[in-house]
Amino acid sequence: MSSDTEQRAVSLVNSFTNLNRVAADGVRSIVSGAGVFVRDSQGQEYLDAISGLWSTSLGFSEPELVAAAAEQLHRLPSYHIAIDRASDVALQLCDRLAQAGPGKVARVLLTNSGSEANDTQVKLLRYYWHWKGEPGRTTFIARERAFHGSTLGAASLSDLGPSGAAFGLPLLDVRRISAPCRAWNALPGETDAEFTARLAAELENVITDAGPDTIAGIFLEPVMGAAGVVVPPEGYYAALQAVTERYGVRLVADEVICGFGRVGTMWGCDALGIEPSATSCAKGLAGGYMPAGAVLVDAEIAQALLGQSSRLGTFAHGFTTGGHPVAAAVALRTLELLEERDIVANAARCGALMQQRLREAAELPVVSDVRSIGLLAGVELGGPAARDLVQKAVGIAAAHGLLVRGAGTTLCLCPPLVISEDEVALMTGRLLAALSELAAPVPG
Ligand SMILES: Cc1ncc(COP(=O)(O)O)c(C=O)c1O
Repeated sequence: MSSDTEQRAVSLVNSFTNLNRVAADGVRSIVSGAGVFVRDSQGQEYLDAISGLWSTSLGFSEPELVAAAAEQLHRLPSYHIAIDRASDVALQLCDRLAQAGPGKVARVLLTNSGSEANDTQVKLLRYYWHWKGEPGRTTFIARERAFHGSTLGAASLSDLGPSGAAFGLPLLDVRRISAPCRAWNALPGETDAEFTARLAAELENVITDAGPDTIAGIFLEPVMGAAGVVVPPEGYYAALQAVTERYGVRLVADEVICGFGRVGTMWGCDALGIEPSATSCAKGLAGGYMPAGAVLVDAEIAQALLGQSSRLGTFAHGFTTGGHPVAAAVALRTLELLEERDIVANAARCGALMQQRLREAAELPVVSDVRSIGLLAGVELGGPAARDLVQKAVGIAAAHGLLVRGAGTTLCLCPPLVISEDEVALMTGRLLAALSELAAPVPG
């Protein structure tokens, strides 16, 4: 295939973009990667400041992950985790995740993706409430601008606006609460404490309006990623959890972006003081090298799974390639490398440096807000044309050799966790150059 055909994307349906623009302009065809850099079919190199799709946490050419995959492909290239059998590596991965997980994890289910993990959570909560004798608890709570995935349950939890409506979503009864983003939602002069108290009261009103005995659970990303990197103010989750506990609402932490070191701690829940009933993870689980996701549940939900099996004789859920042995082997090696190389500490250290450098961006008139934690940052652009400016900035950044993600009015950064201090300087330098060019008056 010629590189021109690749760039033109003749048959590809590209996700989360304008398909007409792609048909006219093509896509950037990425052909190789090393460390924090990728190269396209024209030979241009970019610092990938979004780790693919928030996922390539160990960089693009980690030989240990490649070796783990190759070794597993030679030894046992395929096996399932169903009907009284499982690969040895899937078993080991479950134990490892149960030990590592946020809160107390009693059981682990393996999936192929974050969407499947969140769809599984929806089913498990319904299953749980059926077992508890409260089958009327079928309503879920999620936040404005949330993204929890693309399968029917996960997409119903996501706030996709008119795009969701065009798919006929949501299929679930979903109630929305505000995002804990001061830039979008704080009232003038409101303190953090007042802001979080107001959001907690909003949650309580949603629960009491719907009827507490109708609410199954709430899905929360510790730090909202695709919404535009929303880092909640201190005390937010404590205030929310006081409400969820009062009404017995199960809290699902969506750690698909935050998990495995992204925010400078192993889990977003650790950094933000969340005690979930269940956790979804994916993306960084296998370093982004293999499709892999997981659902971690506490003893209360696990008891329902066992109880239902006593009643029904089976647990009727699973995926042929969920917990695939190659993905499991790569995930196990990823978890080992995180520890062996102290990668979470590197994320915290380089994250602090990134945040320091981004303070310069906050001074630019085109920038209205900068939000960050660990190696996750959102640079929000201001003004009525902010959405268009973000798209323009993504293009200018690419011309400067930097790949960033535009999300609404925000430019998102989420570089591989193995980034070095020099590379942080390069990344932020390129971003600042792109933002300055964006803000510069057009000559003539
Ligand atoms: C927070 C969050 N949850 C779930 C998903 C869905 O994960 P996947 O694309 O692996 O299905 C994503 C994807 O970006 C995500 O950001």
